[in-house]
Amino acid sequence: MGDYYDHEEQPTRAWVLHPEITSDRDRRDAQAGLEEGVALAAALPDLEVVGSEIVRLSKIQPGSLFGSGKIDEIAANLKAEEIELVLVDGPVTPVQQRNLEKAWKVKLLDRTGLILEIFSDRARTREGVLQVEMAALSYQRTRLVRAWTHLERQRGGLGFVGGPGETQIEADRRAIDEQLNRLRKQLEKVAKTRELHRASRAKVPFPIVALVGYTNAGKSTFFNTVTGADVFAKDMLFATLDPTMRQLKLETAHGGDRDIILSDTVGFISNLPTQLVAAFRATLEEVLDADLIVHVRDISSDETEEQKEDVLTILSDLGIKDDAPMIEVWNKIDLLDEESKAARLARAEAQEGVHAISAVTGEGVEGLLAAISAHFEEDKIERELVVPFSEGKKRAWLFDQGVVMEERASEEGYALTVLWTPRQEKQFREM
Ligand code: GTP
Repeated sequence: MGDYYDHEEQPTRAWVLHPEITSDRDRRDAQAGLEEGVALAAALPDLEVVGSEIVRLSKIQPGSLFGSGKIDEIAANLKAEEIELVLVDGPVTPVQQRNLEKAWKVKLLDRTGLILEIFSDRARTREGVLQVEMAALSYQRTRLVRAWTHLERQRGGLGFVGGPGETQIEADRRAIDEQLNRLRKQLEKVAKTRELHRASRAKVPFPIVALVGYTNAGKSTFFNTVTGADVFAKDMLFATLDPTMRQLKLETAHGGDRDIILSDTVGFISNLPTQLVAAFRATLEEVLDADLIVHVRDISSDETEEQKEDVLTILSDLGIKDDAPMIEVWNKIDLLDEESKAARLARAEAQEGVHAISAVTGEGVEGLLAAISAHFEEDKIERELVVPFSEGKKRAWLFDQGVVMEERASEEGYALTVLWTPRQEKQFREM
């Protein structure tokens, strides 16, 4: 990874192509797609996006993606602009990649390659780095298959290389698999350490609130505004790769305090490469643990509805139930004109669990925080439990959590009355 551009030198001159397959009925707005492609490219350091264009095709050419006339036309453009790197905002097969690189005399990255580059550049924890490496290897592995099968390179029957007749591709694939296994083991170790951290965090009887949202929706900006933390926020996609957590004191309706843990997570994006969806599941596990999900939306984007659908789909893929507690935030209202802003505010007002804010100007933020606080007001449930004497650890956990209201002796064990959140109840039942 990282060999597509040199960090030390002049910025690499890049060109973004957004292929639009005109026969694809479900296609999204091409202009918005192109803008997202350019924003993705801008997320790479030391890269100058010199230009971009939508390329309309009625069908994909298997060997070269685009038709030959189009390829020549683009070639002239690239030459005149001295382009070194072409980013194709869509899937490109290895064969297509080779042919286009030859025809254009440039390096070429497809959407998955680009997202992998960004992720590898942004990963800040050991776990993040390992996950990106694994995703990159899995991606390479699938490309190996397609790149090599038609070449049918056979290797002789040398026992130590592989069984008789093992093809080059099988040997390569095995090497990648071994590397993947090594990484997986390291990742398990890191994950275990993390599990320990989480266990110690679980002792803190504060509810966890997870911010989720499409990339660039404004999660980090909101997070910084309310926690005063200096999380890496800038106009870049995927500024946040590893979840960041902060404790936050909210006011309750009766003038008291309520502590919560606010967790910022990686931004979602449409057509996330499958290798990455799997690899980043661990990063997003924070969301599974959350007591409340706050879905931050960029309401000023033309694609805001599509982005919402994408986020909800990914949440459901992660195993989040439809009825999981969720607050929807319509962010960036400061970017709307007077009329649409008034309309949005009225619609948010009319809907339960929807809040319109600007994370930049702070408008609406106080009301949102009050709603988050109020959410936990009704949340506690009272239960009667009997913990067998042999399970003293469970009893200790309940006391650690501060949920025990009363304890009596009984024949079967400790009889306890507890007042706890659904999350605490779930944790207890799973012990
Ligand atoms: P990822 O890390 O990609 O998931 O992005 P994010 O959701 O954390 O977005 P981030 O907070 O980095 O914000 C993206 C851009 O939107 C930045 O340039 C912010 O300054 C801008 N932004 C965020 N909230 C607002 C807002 O309420 N109003 C305006 N005008 N800009 C905002």
